[in-house]
Amino acid sequence: MRQTLIQNYRDKGHEKVEGWGVDRELIDLIMTLDRFQSTNQISGHLCEIGVHHGRTLILLALLSRERESVWGIDLFESAQLQNIDASGSGLEAAVRKNLQQHAPSIPVNLVACNSFHLSQQNRLAIQGSRLVHIDGGHFLEVVLHDLDLAQNILGSGGIIILDDYWHSGFPEVQEAAHRFFSTATTIKAVSFMTGKNKLFLVDVCYYNPLLAFLQNTLPSDRNKRVKLLGYEGLCYDPH
Ligand SMILES: C[S@@+](CC[C@H](N)C(=O)[O-])C[C@H]1O[C@@H](n2cnc3c(N)ncnc32)[C@H](O)[C@@H]1O
Repeated sequence: MRQTLIQNYRDKGHEKVEGWGVDRELIDLIMTLDRFQSTNQISGHLCEIGVHHGRTLILLALLSRERESVWGIDLFESAQLQNIDASGSGLEAAVRKNLQQHAPSIPVNLVACNSFHLSQQNRLAIQGSRLVHIDGGHFLEVVLHDLDLAQNILGSGGIIILDDYWHSGFPEVQEAAHRFFSTATTIKAVSFMTGKNKLFLVDVCYYNPLLAFLQNTLPSDRNKRVKLLGYEGLCYDPH
């Protein structure tokens, strides 16, 4: 049943959900990362900051396994005035409807708040996350904050995906990542891949095995070696 839902969402379903976070190639790539985690018995929560209508959150829900919880954090409609850079506009009713259609009966926690003001209770609830997609506010301070939050809640073997890393309309996303890695005193997750407009980070303890896994798994034109924020990484865009 779950495999059929994933296949349907991958093949066509995602195109019916307004949003930007994933296309078919990214779904395949995220499923590959998920396979690495399941092979290595890595488990934890799946979280997204910046949900819009749920295009990526639905994938996270579909990939969740027993005893893992799914979280979507967004300003949603009641706080859109705080969406300073107008990057999408979360609509909770649309997210619920889309989840119902594409990931029925999978529990998902929707948190309506500014990621700056995530409560201590919710922070505790998402401690030990294995997949975090950052796609909320796109200005410097909020991306710095969300990167720090993601690093803090990340569990063993966890992966962080930062969207819009190469988006020329949101240059502060990249600036935030560079600042974060040049100033942070403790860093749990380091870069291992870029491509499809995203930057990918993994718990440093799993950096070597993940890189080896991807080099053996990805097609040869999808794993060009690059130097990325101080680490050897892969470029997923074809070269
Ligand atoms: C680019 S959209 C997200 C797209 C979504 N990830 C997808 O897969 O289609 C950005 C979302 O972030 C939300 N947002 C903007 N600033 C935020 C903040 N400070 N805290 C939480 N959510 C925020 C917006 O309401 C909007 O829904």
